[in-house]
Amino acid sequence: MKRIGIITRDCGGVNAAIRSIVRTASSQGLDVLGIVRGYEGLIHGNIVPLDRRSVSGIINLGGTVLKSARSEAFFTEAGQAKAVGTIRTNAIEGLIVIGGNGSLTGAHVLADRYGMPVVGVPATIDNDINGVDLSIGADTAVNVALDALDKIRDTATSLERIFVVEVMGRGCGYIAMQVALSGGCEEVLLPEKEFSMTSVSGEIAAGNAQGKVSWIIIVAEGVARAEDVATAISMNTGLETRIAVLGHIQRGGRPTAVDRILAARLGHQAVEALIEGQSDKCVNIRDGRPELIPLATAIQPKILDISEDYHLLKVLS
Ligand code: F6P
Repeated sequence: MKRIGIITRDCGGVNAAIRSIVRTASSQGLDVLGIVRGYEGLIHGNIVPLDRRSVSGIINLGGTVLKSARSEAFFTEAGQAKAVGTIRTNAIEGLIVIGGNGSLTGAHVLADRYGMPVVGVPATIDNDINGVDLSIGADTAVNVALDALDKIRDTATSLERIFVVEVMGRGCGYIAMQVALSGGCEEVLLPEKEFSMTSVSGEIAAGNAQGKVSWIIIVAEGVARAEDVATAISMNTGLETRIAVLGHIQRGGRPTAVDRILAARLGHQAVEALIEGQSDKCVNIRDGRPELIPLATAIQPKILDISEDYHLLKVLS
């Protein structure tokens, strides 16, 4: 193998993964090409050479220096054929795809349908890659959201208010659960757990009758909108509420040490996997040890077990 390519989505730690891949590859005598703007760039042959020096000073940057894009065209056979054409024309013998569910699904298509040697690196704030304990970007997102939450708490406490804070995560409650537990919140509404607004409101009303005046309730975007939850609580309890929707701040920002180290390890592992001749796999670290998961497994829905963390939250709140 002489040349590999990298495709990325954006989240904290992706640049650290690019750096790790480029420097590992270069230490093995491989050339690296960066594909600009994800699968859209692969279709249009938008490619830049990467060497050890071109990845200097990016370990601490959020987003992706290779840029990213949603690609409708890649979902079509014509788009996929063009993407494969770019891989062949540029003599790319192995492709590393850094991203979440959509990106890894594309990686699986290239490997499974077109026989391209492809290895995936899990990177998504949602932490919803099946079989993967922790994806790159999730820890940064949790810390960004927690920082925002701590600031909201200042007002919630000072003005004795009820706040409903919506966090990202698509259909997965990972960010919500982590933020709620680390932020000392009273309640968290998650896709993984049924809830009723009547009982949530009942708890608040009962607490309020005993003198409790301030609540922070985290809502995972995959289960409800902060606005609807806040309206229901106000209507049921007669108490005033405020909302905060944290949105895309969670996908940006300086990556945490956890994400940078994870990115360093997974990027390194991905290059080694390609050199070993592995394909259609996703790198992962389980109990501190590197392993490979079939991409076909990684792109299945992840079932997150939040029962112990939720129980702990209720005991502590
Ligand atoms: O998958 C990452 C994520 O940030 C989700 O948490 C969120 O639902 C979605 O992407 C937002 O997508 P977009 O940036 O296209 O609005």
